[in-house]
Amino acid sequence: MAIYLDHAASTPIRAELIDDYISQLQVIGNPSSVHGLGQRARQAVEDARDQLAKSVDCHRSEVLFTSGGTEGNNLAIKGLYLGAIKADASRNVIITAGTEHHAGIDPVEWLEQTEGASAVWLPVDEFGVVDTAWLADYLEKNSSRVALISLMWVNNETGLITPIAEVTGIANKYGIPVHSDAVAAFGHVPLSFKDSSLATMAISGHKLGAPVGVGALIVARNAKLAVTSHGGGQERGIRSGTLSAPLAGTLGASAALAVAELAEVHERLSFFAKQIRSAVQAVATDAIFTRGDKPGFDGIIHFTFPGCSGDSLLFLLDSAGVCVSTGSACRAGVAQPSHVLMAMGRSEDQARGSLRISLGYTTTQEDVNSFIAAFPAAYAGAKKAGLPSS
Ligand SMILES: Cc1ncc(COP(=O)(O)O)c(C=O)c1O
Repeated sequence: MAIYLDHAASTPIRAELIDDYISQLQVIGNPSSVHGLGQRARQAVEDARDQLAKSVDCHRSEVLFTSGGTEGNNLAIKGLYLGAIKADASRNVIITAGTEHHAGIDPVEWLEQTEGASAVWLPVDEFGVVDTAWLADYLEKNSSRVALISLMWVNNETGLITPIAEVTGIANKYGIPVHSDAVAAFGHVPLSFKDSSLATMAISGHKLGAPVGVGALIVARNAKLAVTSHGGGQERGIRSGTLSAPLAGTLGASAALAVAELAEVHERLSFFAKQIRSAVQAVATDAIFTRGDKPGFDGIIHFTFPGCSGDSLLFLLDSAGVCVSTGSACRAGVAQPSHVLMAMGRSEDQARGSLRISLGYTTTQEDVNSFIAAFPAAYAGAKKAGLPSS
């Protein structure tokens, strides 16, 4: 059985929810139908909405079920931009960062190419920390031109935490809406939508123990979001499409479990992360822990290894039965150096030498021991192979 240390890519479905999920799949009815079966399906969706609202700490009407993080980011970024530009044609600036996930960057680039948006990329330091003083200064001079700010809560590659409260504190002075991709944050670090003052926040089920294909966009009641996806008018008209009661139910239940266990799981993962970090650094003495001593989610452990290819490391660890990730984008089947590390000012070679070990609620001491046992030989092999010429 492979050792799975790639939870930031997708975490296993929670075993205690599978039976219920499967039996829900047999329930007949569209939650929008008015007959009894439809209403039963509707009730299941509304129960899930209540459960999710409690876990996220928001009002139930602010929860919109989606297919996942990508859809949530698209609905929010495009919707907030088009909502702002409709009200005031000179508000065409979107402030974001090059360290965002592609599901956050690509909608911004699309708006630039097709809708006249102008992206302003927040400076980030070598650890990926966004420059909030720069943001405050920029808004002081240009706030009337800014449509929205979009910054992720936890970076899915490095585990770095963005100071969201500080960002919204700056933006709120000018009434500028802030969207956050909280896909790598929700269920892993303490989080309250109500306290965050965000306009919108995207979460995804398969990072929590729900199946792939369900997520939620949390939309503040006063957010001015244009509708960008049209159809049956479900979910406040913002996310049309037939709702899946089994998927919504499993998302609600997995979110409740993740939040209830958060402190205990985090303590365990922090303990494991320390072991992994010191074992890696004992063998690879020049390894660089990517987010340095900046605040982060301990379950994401990201290193760069000078003169060593992350792809080779991944392959050799995989051959030894340990699944990890380079954290870099593999788009259209082509391995590329991580855009996140490049945005942090790393060279292409440095970015190619990265490895992400990500832990989750199922991670055990045995998993950690297996990684620690497999790492020295994998590292020696990858170091010997060196970097491919690019
Ligand atoms: C930070 C972040 N945002 C967005 C996504 C996309 O989420 P989904 O796979 O649910 O579309 C991911 C998935 O890897 C992610 O890590």
